[in-house]
Amino acid sequence: MDCPFRYERETLYCEEVPLADIAASAGTPCYVYSSKAILDRFHAYEDSLADIPHAVCYAVKANSNLGILALLAKAGAGFDIVSGGELYRVLKAGASPGKVVFSGVGKTAEEVEYALEQGIHSFNCESEPELALIDSLAGRLGKRARVALRANPDVDAVTHPYISTGLSEHKFGIDIKLVEAIYERARALRNIELDGVSCHIGSQLLDPAPVLEALDRLLALVDRLRAKGTEIRHLDLGGGIGVPYKRSDPAPDIAGFVREVRKRIEGRNLKLMLEPGRSIVAEAGVLLTRVLYRKTTPRKEFIVVDAAMNDLIRPSLYGSYHEIIPLRRRAAETITADVVGPVCESGDFLAKDRQIANVFPGDLLAVCTSGAYGFVAASNYNSRPRPAEVLVEGSQWRMVRQRETLEDLTRGESV
Ligand code: LLP
Repeated sequence: MDCPFRYERETLYCEEVPLADIAASAGTPCYVYSSKAILDRFHAYEDSLADIPHAVCYAVKANSNLGILALLAKAGAGFDIVSGGELYRVLKAGASPGKVVFSGVGKTAEEVEYALEQGIHSFNCESEPELALIDSLAGRLGKRARVALRANPDVDAVTHPYISTGLSEHKFGIDIKLVEAIYERARALRNIELDGVSCHIGSQLLDPAPVLEALDRLLALVDRLRAKGTEIRHLDLGGGIGVPYKRSDPAPDIAGFVREVRKRIEGRNLKLMLEPGRSIVAEAGVLLTRVLYRKTTPRKEFIVVDAAMNDLIRPSLYGSYHEIIPLRRRAAETITADVVGPVCESGDFLAKDRQIANVFPGDLLAVCTSGAYGFVAASNYNSRPRPAEVLVEGSQWRMVRQRETLEDLTRGESV
């Protein structure tokens, strides 16, 4: 799939806009997203499923900016949410509540009530007590809640331990060996419609094999449930495939992944639901940052930039790799350096021992593949205002989130 960021005469562009123009007017640090890249990736899922019953529910947690949600809502996406806040956002972006699925291990009564009142498509329910809560709140509101139980299929997703979720040691889902008994008991709940089965075994999976293994286990579960008279209508397979952060990473192919899933599901009279987040937005976004200082110690070379772990926490939290490239490409000279931010922690880095362009104070850099789990996990740590966000459409761009101000930092506080 096309990369929306490319050099033209040594200048880095997003679609048809030179990124330096955006930095000059929006300032840095600043996230920039390509709407074309987002839509291309959404359509790679959507179009490969067009002729079978399906719903592609974008995982809002990956990037919940209203501009992006509105873009996807207009393209016909559904949404996977994990909080009342995410439901509020998708509704504000113009999404239809009937296309929303509510996942997550700790839904509160207020959130369940809000979702029931709005009439979401379904809940992915993670425990028996949660099921009881949904039943009683639905009863009180005079509604029937559509539910899929999230099965934990005990499949190793082979990814970073913090984002692997499908093993029996994880807090997520209901052990696949126990879930059948819960479906049985749930048939007695009058305000619950047992509509589906769901799972999500982890994120950033470069090899789809474990997901297909989980799918096989889920399909066997559907057969057993149907044999006992529970009419399962949908199967939700959770998040999408991973993305290449390094040039050497294999580049998973969305259409190829969906083909493999389809092969297994076709003819089974099941609506397929997917909840991709990262694979829709990660490659569509960069974080722009300006070099503040160069600094040399007896051991190391540092490039100090104006973006930090509070803006993009992935390198500090998961040791993850993001390519960092200059907005203006010069002769091939490179150095080995750590790219670090202003936050007062040695864990504040965007890259370690990185072979990188020999850049100087004032130069602009793009931290690539930052569209997913970037801004959404930004904080005000060290009282740093959170960055601006910009959405590019062809030769146009617009701010979809203002940079925070100093007043924003203390909003709601008192002396
Ligand atoms: N559905 C559920 C229930 C999930 O928990 C997740 C991600 C997704 C869908 C979307 O998965 P995706 O298509 O994005 O792989 N902050 C971490 C990633 C956390 C993922 C959490 N759950 C990171 O920066 O890598």
